[in-house]
Amino acid sequence: MTQTVALAADHGGVELKALLVKDLVAAGLSAVDLGTNSADSVDYPDYADRLAAALKDGRAARGILICGTGIGISIAANRHKHIRAALCHDETTARLCREHNDANVLVLGARVIGPEVARACLNVFLSTKFGGGRHIARVAKLG
Ligand code: RB5
Repeated sequence: MTQTVALAADHGGVELKALLVKDLVAAGLSAVDLGTNSADSVDYPDYADRLAAALKDGRAARGILICGTGIGISIAANRHKHIRAALCHDETTARLCREHNDANVLVLGARVIGPEVARACLNVFLSTKFGGGRHIARVAKLG
């Protein structure tokens, strides 16, 4: 399982992020919390950029991004070439984004899924390996 995970969220994802940070630490993993940490309104692209920087400079190998729907922050994250961010709503998409897409960032929408589903997505995302094989060339074409 990946040892260091960076997390970032806009104001819509603050509470869910705090819960997931706690879970990661309880599981013995390191969590790099990149904010935001209050309910004050912020712009989700800034937090996607923070997370992209943390993965680029090696502070973390995997990332979690959260906003209200997960949509805006995943669009922003995927503008970075080294990021493959997958917006997931259940364990199946969380597993397949690792097996098929080698996603390095899990994106969650705090206003559209509940905390238990989010926890399950995180657990599967971190414990599932890339499938390789036929997926290698396809992922390579993503750039
Ligand atoms: C913020 O109100 C909201 O727009 C944001 O969290 C997200 O849902 C955008 O995609």
